[in-house]
Amino acid sequence: MTTPHQPAAIAHLNVVVLVSGTGSLLQAIVDGQDEHYSVVKVIADVPCQGIERARAAGIATEVVEMGADRAEWNQRLVAAVDAAQPDVVVSAGFMKILGKDFLDRFEGRTINTHPALLPAFKGAHGVRDALAYGAKVTGSTVHFVDAGVDTGSIIAQEPVRILAEDDEASLHERIKVVERELIVSVLRAARVEGEALSIQL
Ligand code: GRF
Repeated sequence: MTTPHQPAAIAHLNVVVLVSGTGSLLQAIVDGQDEHYSVVKVIADVPCQGIERARAAGIATEVVEMGADRAEWNQRLVAAVDAAQPDVVVSAGFMKILGKDFLDRFEGRTINTHPALLPAFKGAHGVRDALAYGAKVTGSTVHFVDAGVDTGSIIAQEPVRILAEDDEASLHERIKVVERELIVSVLRAARVEGEALSIQL
């Protein structure tokens, strides 16, 4: 029996990860699995290294490729995610915008990792844009996904200094080192409250 002085048991979270590319963040999430969470499925919009990493780890995978009809693709994506019954959906280098059908089903439980300190440098080129602007500090943001592009409420951020000798690749790699740690910390801190997620770091 739980007394007022004992914390309630922490439920183990089932996580679905969405990827489009290399999947190094996915690898960190997989390597970070513990009593807090398990990755139950990895879904991509294109065949990619992230899918290969998931297969190598023995995790269920599905590639949901977009055809001419974006709304129909969103429905297939919802079905692919729903089949895994996740508590949390992580967009980790997933390069497609999640549409209304997806958000109707999973908003509040879907989080994204972005390689800049939002609200600065939103969009697909956050690293390149911070460099081009001449910013001296950028970083990583984990945030809830909403209907905008990188506009959802911020869960966690970590800064990364931009060095004079940085190019996009060197800066992105240092940001990814920070992103990998941050997303694992967020997943370990996540709790389900009804249909939504509560994350207090
Ligand atoms: C990360 O920087 C993520 O924030 C961005 O794409 C990158 C994914 O890297 N959206 P990887 O495929 O996990 O190596």
